[in-house]
Amino acid sequence: MSRAFTRRGFLASVLAGAGVAAGGMLLQSCASVPVSAPRPPPVPRPLAIPPLAPSTRVGGVRVFELAAAPGTSGFLAGASTPTWGYGLPFGGPTLRAARGERVRVHVTNRLPETTTTHWHGMTLPAAMDGGPHQPIEPGATWSPEWTIEQPAATLWYHPHPHGHTERHVHRGLAGLFLIDDATGNAATDDPTGNATDDPTGNAAADGPDPLPHRYGVDDIPVVVTDRVFTADGSFDETRRNAHGLVGDTLLVNGTVAPYLAATTSRIRLRLLNASSARCYRFARSDERPLVLVGTDSGLLPAPRPVPDVLLTPGERAEVLLDLDPGRPVVLRSLPQDLGAVSGNERTIGALDTLDVLQIRPAAELEPAPALPGSLPHEPGPDPAAATTVRRFELRNNTINGEKMDMARVDEVVPAGATEIWELVNLHSRPHNLHVHDARGQVLEADGRAVGPELRTWKDTVYVPPRTTTRVLLRFGRHTDPGTPYMYHCHLLYHEDQGMMGQFVVVPPGSTEVPRVLAGGGHG
Ligand code: C2O
Ligand code: CU
Ligand code: CU
Repeated sequence: MSRAFTRRGFLASVLAGAGVAAGGMLLQSCASVPVSAPRPPPVPRPLAIPPLAPSTRVGGVRVFELAAAPGTSGFLAGASTPTWGYGLPFGGPTLRAARGERVRVHVTNRLPETTTTHWHGMTLPAAMDGGPHQPIEPGATWSPEWTIEQPAATLWYHPHPHGHTERHVHRGLAGLFLIDDATGNAATDDPTGNATDDPTGNAAADGPDPLPHRYGVDDIPVVVTDRVFTADGSFDETRRNAHGLVGDTLLVNGTVAPYLAATTSRIRLRLLNASSARCYRFARSDERPLVLVGTDSGLLPAPRPVPDVLLTPGERAEVLLDLDPGRPVVLRSLPQDLGAVSGNERTIGALDTLDVLQIRPAAELEPAPALPGSLPHEPGPDPAAATTVRRFELRNNTINGEKMDMARVDEVVPAGATEIWELVNLHSRPHNLHVHDARGQVLEADGRAVGPELRTWKDTVYVPPRTTTRVLLRFGRHTDPGTPYMYHCHLLYHEDQGMMGQFVVVPPGSTEVPRVLAGGGHG
């Protein structure tokens, strides 16, 4: 992350990117990203807020229902777009549960093809993970169940069928899964965080909350994706470059050219990069800092003002924005130094300046308490506790020279292990690496040590071209020698092309763990 936080780079980019907001469309771009069919500029619309998924209590388990199905969306005036969603035409409701709770999700597949539903960032048994080994056939329902055993964080869910993840996610299948922590933010059994009209009838939190936590009021989901629209209003799924599908039009929670009418003087944005390949460097148009409070899988020890936040696909960040009454501000994505060599900046869209979200504060705003000096936070693992160093070489669609094989177990990890994973990008293009069932912290990025005070909780890390990133990972405790978890590049086309490997988690001291999965690894 250090690369993203250089002040000089920020100022240079702000100057280069200074432009007039154009309603969420590309402000500046180079010809290498495919462009949508010409249309009149979009009229700004209120940001859609994905509904909170309702849940019921069955014998102490919080039960959700999701159904993946085709639908039709109206992103653009006068055009309709065929899309997929989970109970919505596009996207999915926000699931919310508290640490310590047992949850079950009934996922029904009403699509014309096999899909899966993966809980990105979740620590859970491999058979519940929703990766390529848990297919849901058309018409079938899959019902994973597990206990939430990790701190407050912004996680998400999306399909993971081997070879088809990019297409399924691109059609719209992605939603947030928020974890609340009794010791952390939104300390409550109330999934809305809104206390009084809680449909579950559960009591609201006691005591002051250190962070804005009223969902859709001052705690705002911001799921950012990019698309190319064809003349008839469809998503263009055909013009793919080496990075995958890169679009010129942003959809934020499924809204083109969104604005947020803010009523409080501080808002919390839960940013998710749900794009196939495009990266975002989020910053305020007024050059005030963003206050970073959380990354992928946990809160920071204390709020940290930063000029900008770089998110590559799959990464999340929680940021606070202080607002002035009546004074609009735009959350933008500025050009990025991805360390990309030989023209990749252009083709992945890293030179673009984009308006992500206009924020329109009311003339009078509900005041915010002073920023908390510290946050409920889990200390990072001790590097001295690492028992193993594993090296992963990232090349063009391979990891350690291999393409994904559903029947091959690449790594065997003892339950609960702390390990150093050394990610070496030997390629000239940007890649990242996401590890299932693991949470960790970056120790070294691009040859520079990341001091303990700067480390944050991650499950997906950027690995710039021709650099090495070392990450200290702590794995889950659920063992299953016959069912693997995945690690992969989260540029979804790369994942589909085979830039993915499999590991099993076994009881410590296990010997002779099978490296070939029974049944060829299908199911
Ligand atoms: Cu978000 Cu294995 O994926
Ligand atoms: Cu994942
Ligand atoms: Cu990649």
